[in-house]
Amino acid sequence: MTLTKEMLEYVALMVERSLGIQYTKENHYQLEKRMNEVAAATGIGGAEALFQTLRDKRDPTVMEALLNASTNNETSFFRDRGVFEALHSELLENPEFSGNKNNFIRIWSAASSTGQEAYSLAILLRQWQLQKPGRNYEILVTDYSSRVLEQAKAGKFSDLEVQRGLTAEQLKSYFDQSAADPRYWLVRPELKSQMTFRKINLLEDWNDIGSFNIVFCRNVLIYQSVENKKKIISRLYNTIQPAGYVVLGAAETLIGLAENFEIRHLGRAVYYQKIAKY
Ligand SMILES: C[S@@+](CC[C@H](N)C(=O)[O-])C[C@H]1O[C@@H](n2cnc3c(N)ncnc32)[C@H](O)[C@@H]1O
Repeated sequence: MTLTKEMLEYVALMVERSLGIQYTKENHYQLEKRMNEVAAATGIGGAEALFQTLRDKRDPTVMEALLNASTNNETSFFRDRGVFEALHSELLENPEFSGNKNNFIRIWSAASSTGQEAYSLAILLRQWQLQKPGRNYEILVTDYSSRVLEQAKAGKFSDLEVQRGLTAEQLKSYFDQSAADPRYWLVRPELKSQMTFRKINLLEDWNDIGSFNIVFCRNVLIYQSVENKKKIISRLYNTIQPAGYVVLGAAETLIGLAENFEIRHLGRAVYYQKIAKY
């Protein structure tokens, strides 16, 4: 039996309440497909049995499996290259930005998926650090999904993944081919040494993570309602240091969502700068 409209609406609401991700009626077929996948993976008979488990038992493991399956984890190294070029040439190389920060820069890769965004940042910051003694940085890497966060933490990427965005030089300098399985590449420990990995749901509290010069929050707001986008942005504002930045995905904007950031066109990229005294 396929799921009824009411069953799908019920499950869609559960997902939206937990993660903010919205399944519109047109996408209910996708939700059902994902429910079938989760049912198969968790050994629960089928989508209908999964629905009953979610509704009656509220089993957190099953719920987590459904939420993990509901997220889009598409990412790649140096995705939207202009953003990373701007970080390198307009900010890190600009003493007004990096010098003023006592040569210490903190960046948060929020919703980082499997980690390619965070390691792209680490490659740039590592190069910046090696240019001059005394420079230091920290990168906080977070995602809701523990499945993708585990891969990010492991720093293990397939041939296909490393081919998406890394140059041969970067691969050679920062990765080792896995001895156990040469189809995979492992991030060298020195690249990971200034990175911390943590599970954070952007809709829940994250009060204890300190403040950042730049927050990369890319390709995650797109799935949220306007109300949730505003909520996340206003809380990001409080974690960004005065005159710090937030960077969004290429199809995302702060226009109409927040007035306490100013648009800055840095090279080919758009960064949003915090207006400190708003
Ligand atoms: C499309 S990926 C973006 C990855 C990377 N930022 C990029 O632009 O390449 C979106 C990520 O957002 C995460 N995500 C979705 N809802 C979230 C939430 N409420 N809190 C934290 N992460 C969330 C998903 O698990 C997924 O890994």
